[in-house]
Amino acid sequence: MLLRDVEYGDLDAYVRMRCDPAMMAELGGPLPREGMAAKVQRDVRRAAAGTDWTKMIVPDEAEPDVVAGTVALWPHDTDGERISEIGWMVLPEFQGRGLAKQAVRTVLGLARDDSRWGLIHAFPATTNGPSNGICRSLGFRFVGRQDVTFAGRVLVTNHWTIDPRTDLT
Ligand SMILES: CC(C)(COP(=O)(O)OP(=O)(O)OC[C@H]1O[C@@H](n2cnc3c(N)ncnc32)[C@H](O)[C@@H]1OP(=O)(O)O)[C@@H](O)C(=O)NCCC(=O)NCCS
Repeated sequence: MLLRDVEYGDLDAYVRMRCDPAMMAELGGPLPREGMAAKVQRDVRRAAAGTDWTKMIVPDEAEPDVVAGTVALWPHDTDGERISEIGWMVLPEFQGRGLAKQAVRTVLGLARDDSRWGLIHAFPATTNGPSNGICRSLGFRFVGRQDVTFAGRVLVTNHWTIDPRTDLT
């Protein structure tokens, strides 16, 4: 597996991840197709500027055009506080092979070597078994339940944090 920065050509993967009812079942339902080109452009711009990381998961180096999913790490303000948040997605045909866990661990390793991220937060839905499993097994600490507004919908989530400098397993 390798990770690479998001590119404009990843629009199709974005649509398959974010506009699909099964993929978005734990994230409040599918997002409208119309917003996806702007979303990719924003992510490419922010990756180039180095403010956000959006890493595409390429399962096989020999097939660089095949994308399995994505891991993103970005800063944002919540309740007046600046936090670093991580999120991930893996397409159905690539799920269950450990790819998400491996990719999240790799990004946390990169963050560990880059002092600006500090404590990293994750907010998987309380019902998202694999995502909560990833948090638990990589060394995240459970903070508590939290309602989170995502794309205009309120999700009931588990709030997890990790300091990759000390907690990454
Ligand atoms: C969540 C998601 C990224 C998992 O991707 P994946 O590549 O299949 O995950 P992995 O194969 O790395 O498995 C992760 C861990 O979850 C465990 N797991 C799988 N299903 C599980 C379940 N129902 N309950 C508990 N743990 C589960 C796996 O055993 C693995 O842990 P282990 O390595 O310690 O055994 C993928 O299902 C997805 O993209 N779903 C849709 C979008 C989404 O919900 N994104 C996350 C938002 S927080």
